[in-house]
Amino acid sequence: MITYYKFIPQFLSHIRKVTFVRFREKRSKVSYRSKIKELLRNVLARYGFDIVPSAFVYDWQLGNLDQEPREVFLPETAIQDLVPDNPVLLDLQKRYQELNYPCCEALLWTEGRVKAEDILYFRGHNAYVFQEGRSNRNMFGYLLAYYYTKSIDHLGLLDQLDEDGAFGAITYEFDGTLISRDLLDSVLEIYFLEDQLGITKLDEISVLDIGAGYGRLAHRFFEALPNLKTYSCTDAIAVSSFLADYYLEFRGIKEKANMLPLDRIKKDLKKGSVDLAVNIHSFSECTLSAIEWWVELLADLEVPYLMIVPNSGDQLLTNDGWDFLPLVEKYGYRLTALEPKYHDPVMQKYALNPDHFHLYKYKP
Ligand SMILES: C[S@@+](CC[C@H](N)C(=O)[O-])C[C@H]1O[C@@H](n2cnc3c(N)ncnc32)[C@H](O)[C@@H]1O
Repeated sequence: MITYYKFIPQFLSHIRKVTFVRFREKRSKVSYRSKIKELLRNVLARYGFDIVPSAFVYDWQLGNLDQEPREVFLPETAIQDLVPDNPVLLDLQKRYQELNYPCCEALLWTEGRVKAEDILYFRGHNAYVFQEGRSNRNMFGYLLAYYYTKSIDHLGLLDQLDEDGAFGAITYEFDGTLISRDLLDSVLEIYFLEDQLGITKLDEISVLDIGAGYGRLAHRFFEALPNLKTYSCTDAIAVSSFLADYYLEFRGIKEKANMLPLDRIKKDLKKGSVDLAVNIHSFSECTLSAIEWWVELLADLEVPYLMIVPNSGDQLLTNDGWDFLPLVEKYGYRLTALEPKYHDPVMQKYALNPDHFHLYKYKP
């Protein structure tokens, strides 16, 4: 008779051995894999990449959308007019250089920031209005921003203001509406001012835009506010003044909106002639001396309100890290409102280009 029990200890030790070996193999396999993954992640992180399961990624994030190439709407004369050697631009450049004002001291806006193709496609993705990449400038960011804006749009501005994608603006069509960052940002900026100052209910309003770019907000103010009296686009960068002048003409809004060249500002603007100054993503891109020149000018003109949208959220910082709030306060401007662009914190995290809107009142 075979005595099976004799083999039990041997059998048990075999099981333990096998289990142990298998367990060790598994552990070492797992750690080997995770080590490779960790190593890869570290290397990729240096280049701004990460490893994510493909099931978590949307098709548009992989660039797999079968999109038609974008059609860019340009007026016929644009190709010959919007060139770096346009005599009007050369003249503005010469005049601005000769001024030697502190506001002309350059921080970001040095030669080469606006390339020849940016002059032609000035509403495209470039230093005037970045439209792709960081800060949720993706299809979902645009989508969230659109529906958020629609949810607060009690004045019907999204119906009233058009987007046509002219001069290269990046557009999306949602809900039967063509939208761009130009349109959505402008509408939200107008609503901030409406909430704070009731701008649509004033008898009339005159605006001074410092660092007005190509005149984005001037165009939107003109369309949204029948009570707009004047809107002056100013800048210390000649090519921006050139583009603003061109764009205001193109939109046919020069009866109220004008490009005010830097060498005319001190002569043309009178004390009490401006109700509101706006500075959108501009002071952050200037030196402290340049900012001081502008804020002192506003105080001289006794401009009662100054709206600032910095590149630094709820603080007033230049792109090289200097706090310019003390300068704003030095000339008598006191904070009266500071709000996130999107009132819902989830939107503020994920929607297009979350900013903070700052409003200062002149109280010397
Ligand atoms: C990012 S763009 C914003 C344009 C416009 N405010 C908008 O939101 O569409 C920055 C603007 O600041 C202007 N800028 C740069 N340096 C400046 C300075 N020292 N003084 C005034 N404006 C300046 C540029 O020419 C440009 O128009």
